[in-house]
Amino acid sequence: MKNTIHTLLLLSILAMSAPQIFANPPPAYEGRRLYVSYCQLCHGTDGKGDGPLAKAMQISPADLTTTVRSRSDTILTKIITGKGRQTITGRDRHNLLSDAMPEWKDVFSEPQLKSLIAYLRFMGITKHSLMGDPKVGMQLYQQYCQVCHGVEGDGDGIMTNLMGVTPMDHTNPNVTNPLTNSDIVKSILDGKGRFMPAWRGILSQSDAEALVSYIRLLSH
Ligand code: HEC
Ligand code: HEC
Repeated sequence: MKNTIHTLLLLSILAMSAPQIFANPPPAYEGRRLYVSYCQLCHGTDGKGDGPLAKAMQISPADLTTTVRSRSDTILTKIITGKGRQTITGRDRHNLLSDAMPEWKDVFSEPQLKSLIAYLRFMGITKHSLMGDPKVGMQLYQQYCQVCHGVEGDGDGIMTNLMGVTPMDHTNPNVTNPLTNSDIVKSILDGKGRFMPAWRGILSQSDAEALVSYIRLLSH
């Protein structure tokens, strides 16, 4: 009886759950979008300072995967905007950075700067490359995964409370980092445990790869 009620609930929820739209995309996701447009040319796809323009520059673009860790958000904001840079160390700004790093002034809004910084920090902690298109991944996530894994990916979807399931927390890098990209692809296509459905047949290999990238960007 209890199971029947659960099944009915489940079906009606699935039927009703038109994809909820993320009010704000996850910060690292949004930050990556900005990074690709504005920073990648010099700092490279993975932030290692090896972008296509790097060779032409006299001062190498910083390897952001190692330098950013020791910088506070306030200092990173100053470095990116060039505003108030001279106060970073209490000395002249040239003691810290040359003019080779453009000053972005008012190009980015406050939330965009936060997102950019979130992505810089993400590049510093992630151990895995982004294998698929996160934009495709976000759409699929909202459509198929959010009911259980939650809007923000922390495992508090509508269905979680109703069914008493405990999905993994996709926002915690300590939880997701130990899994390789192919581990996650496999869990998505073949399912996991009692309640994580197998999506093979509904989702393709490249859909699963796009989801992996999006899941990685959910971590903070
Ligand atoms: C035209 C090439 C270029 C572009 C585009 C560029 N940078 Fe840089 N960036 C540099 C160079 C060169 C340095 C190193 C400067 C130095 O060491 O004096 C640097 C340094 C930095 C640093 C300081 C690293 C540290 O802690 O020492 C940060 C942070 C940074 N860039 C972030 C960004 C972000 C975010 C963007 C995009 C919004 C961006 N950069 C775009 C060339 C670039
Ligand atoms: C019916 C609820 C439900 C839905 C819908 C769902 N999941 Fe899950 N998911 C779970 C549960 C519960 C777990 C924990 C499974 C376990 O470890 O026993 C889980 C675990 C996972 C894991 C971790 C697997 C591992 O290797 O430990 C990943 C990755 C994942 N889900 C991705 C997704 C993606 C992507 C979607 C959408 C395509 C999705 N899930 C849809 C319930 C769900």
